[in-house]
Amino acid sequence: MKEPKQLSVSAIESGTVIDHIPAKTLFKVISILGLDHIDSQITFGTNLESKKLGRKAIIKISGKFFEDTDINRIALVAPEAKLNIIREYEVVEKKVVEVPDAIVGIAKCMNPKCITNYEKVTTRFKVVSKKNVALKCHYCEKITNQENLQII
Ligand code: CTP
Ligand code: ZN
Repeated sequence: MKEPKQLSVSAIESGTVIDHIPAKTLFKVISILGLDHIDSQITFGTNLESKKLGRKAIIKISGKFFEDTDINRIALVAPEAKLNIIREYEVVEKKVVEVPDAIVGIAKCMNPKCITNYEKVTTRFKVVSKKNVALKCHYCEKITNQENLQII
């Protein structure tokens, strides 16, 4: 028989578990999802061991179920994140995140002359490549790619 697994963060009764977040982007995920200003009970663990990611983080949000369009916003910083939907202590659904076709806010345009970098304008990008992320700015049309991607 398989040994029961020891959970480093307690199980939840219902809600969303976001697993396989790279430890170094945990706080970006928290900020992108607005978890720093919601009322739900949230527990998280970080620098947990992961064969795939080296060090991973996990977030458990009780009583909260996200829309796909909201959750996909984390794909830029946690492309391998796995979502587990929990009801009555059981995992009822597993989902992966997908880089959306457009990004609003979140990322900074790498062009210093872009209007978004000197006026209070929300950034907007068309995603021109999803694998090696490349974002085309709606305002200046310059490409911001993975290497110079900065999350606001
Ligand atoms: N989980 C939880 N509360 C529950 C059930 C599950 O917090 N009531 C968490 C587990 O701790 C785990 C994740 O949800 O981090 C997925 O659970 P499960 O599918 O049972 O674990 P694994 O088989 O390890 O999933 P995977 O290999 O797909 O990551
Ligand atoms: Zn721009």
